[in-house]
Amino acid sequence: MTRGYHEPVLVAEIQELLVRMPGLYVDGTLGGGGHSLAILKELQRKGYGASSLLIGIDQDECALTAAREKLNPFGEGVVEVKGNFSQIAEIVGRVCGQRSIEASAVGILLDLGVSSAQIDTPERGFSYSHHGPLDMRMDSGSSTSAADVVNAMSQRELASLFFRYGEEPRSRSIARDILDYREKHGPLSRTEELAGIIRKGERRPDRAIKTLSRVFQALRIEVNHELEVLRLALNEAVSLLCPEGRLAVISYHSLEDRMVKAFFADKSRSDWGPKGVGLREPLVKAGYRVVTRKAVSAGEREVSLNPRARSARLRVLEKLDEGE
Ligand SMILES: C[S@@+](CC[C@H](N)C(=O)[O-])C[C@H]1O[C@@H](n2cnc3c(N)ncnc32)[C@H](O)[C@@H]1O
Repeated sequence: MTRGYHEPVLVAEIQELLVRMPGLYVDGTLGGGGHSLAILKELQRKGYGASSLLIGIDQDECALTAAREKLNPFGEGVVEVKGNFSQIAEIVGRVCGQRSIEASAVGILLDLGVSSAQIDTPERGFSYSHHGPLDMRMDSGSSTSAADVVNAMSQRELASLFFRYGEEPRSRSIARDILDYREKHGPLSRTEELAGIIRKGERRPDRAIKTLSRVFQALRIEVNHELEVLRLALNEAVSLLCPEGRLAVISYHSLEDRMVKAFFADKSRSDWGPKGVGLREPLVKAGYRVVTRKAVSAGEREVSLNPRARSARLRVLEKLDEGE
């Protein structure tokens, strides 16, 4: 089987939970356009194609090129925009302004993290399995690469980074090994140098892969400010939803999933005032409801076909109609 740019996960679930009416859809993580294609096909199948618009956003120029090719047949029904989803409200507002339509979305998708194409391209530097520059920028135009982070941070800062964003138990000794390496050999510039330092310091070789994943994940999160931009995007995305509109987020590690879960819980909580007052009605009614009480995961069959799906967790939030 020839592998494409990226195999999207939980496609049937996204079609079912997100595509429920005609209108404006926003894919904040366009990637190779797999989810967008599935949304557009579902809109067509339901007879909503002509009365809908999909705005696809990605910060990676290569992703936009791949998605444009895939989504070309949908013509005016799709707009691809280069940008960061932390500015989703401004981007959607601008596109809708140009088309004189209301910036009010019935479905928004964030499929977080990196694509298979980004991981599998050695020159992007995301993977410990490939030799390449220690880069990890999703937006190649941004200024700070993973090498900049690894070479500029102190031992304490590196240890804290690997612990916070990678939940890496050996964070301190890995940071020390990096400092030793820098002293002996100068700045790091390649993925294989960092992977070599981590492998060398790992007493149990069977644990090396997990350690490598955690450290590379931590650096990627730092380089792309992934948690900061997610926080901004969640707030902006809910402000774009129309009544009954839904926000779907697929996350791949616990730091993201925890943030999404807590954000959804907060948005769907009514304010009942101080404890013990016993109000009949809340002081402030929640404006949203969580559609997925538990995160939706991929089934065994999907995981066997697409191992990336194993860690995927989908959560969906719906904006309530004011009358409810
Ligand atoms: C998991 S892939 C999405 C794959 C896509 N759903 C598909 O079906 O092909 C994540 C994509 O989101 C993009 N991305 C991640 N964070 C972003 C951000 N803050 N703003 C814009 N794009 C982002 C990445 O560049 C990558 O192309």
